[in-house]
Amino acid sequence: MKDTFALITGASSGIGLEISKSLAKRNHNLVLTSRRGSVLEEEAKKLRNTFGVKVDFFPCDLTDEKAPQALYDFCNKKGYVVNLLVNNAGYAIPTSFDQTSMIEEEKFIRVLGISVIALCKLFIIDMLKRNQGRIMIVSSVAAFAPPSSIQALYGPIKTFMNRFSEGLNRNYNHLGITSTAVCPGYTITNFHTASGVQKEMDSVPKFMKKAAPRVAEEAVEATLKGKKVCVPTKTFKIIVFLLKVIPHFFFSMVSAVLAPGRYEKK
Ligand SMILES: NC(=O)c1ccc[n+]([C@@H]2O[C@H](COP(=O)([O-])OP(=O)(O)OC[C@H]3O[C@@H](n4cnc5c(N)ncnc54)[C@H](OP(=O)(O)O)[C@@H]3O)[C@@H](O)[C@H]2O)c1
Repeated sequence: MKDTFALITGASSGIGLEISKSLAKRNHNLVLTSRRGSVLEEEAKKLRNTFGVKVDFFPCDLTDEKAPQALYDFCNKKGYVVNLLVNNAGYAIPTSFDQTSMIEEEKFIRVLGISVIALCKLFIIDMLKRNQGRIMIVSSVAAFAPPSSIQALYGPIKTFMNRFSEGLNRNYNHLGITSTAVCPGYTITNFHTASGVQKEMDSVPKFMKKAAPRVAEEAVEATLKGKKVCVPTKTFKIIVFLLKVIPHFFFSMVSAVLAPGRYEKK
């Protein structure tokens, strides 16, 4: 019998790297992917040595429309049976909508949206043949929040991913496939520096900034159990509950104090 693998996008840092560790700890073999091959190589070596599982890596840029097929072909050629697909890669655009070129918006939508759909489309065919598969889509609390005064497309694309995940569950649960939309709140990773929004993150109170290993652990547990939605940490479970029950204008007012820069009127 062929070995099964978990494929993790955005595995070179932050939540993706912690998800990789959490899965390796549970004896899953891994295929890591992101753009930085040298970082992946280093992390793959550490994971193999620490957890004794098989770890391979494939560097690719998900802004490239050919990347999902190349990733699928890589796994196929190596004989890796992917029974867990983790769609985690992501970033934010720091400039306002009017100051961002259409090319940058398209790249953003491709990494956070189209590549996720393309990878699910490719790997789900094989999952269906085995009547077994787990999908994780790393979304965000932003999927439930009112539109931010910065990053016009970040929240909407995460809402879209939550709805897409719901659609996968509706269509494939009875065939053994589950999809988990993981919706973290503020998490300490490279995200804010890489996306040029570290100043905004610095102004967030400490109790709202969560550790990436904790977020990853909850995400992995929920995905392996086949849960539909996972909001890691009690703080953000309460915030998402409030987002669903209180009017958004009130939430925006409170957030302008707790997370300045996100909801102030321009
Ligand atoms: N941190 C937060 O507060 C937070 C909150 C809610 C949701 N999230 C979501 O969590 C996910 C992971 O983010 P993170 O916080 O762990 O950030 P991170 O530490 O910056 O990690 C992002 C990962 O995505 C990869 N990546 C970025 N652009 C890529 C591209 N074009 N092609 C392929 N890989 C790419 C990066 O690797 P390379 O640079 O090597 O390509 C890196 O491994 C994202 O989807 C984000 O939206 C984060």
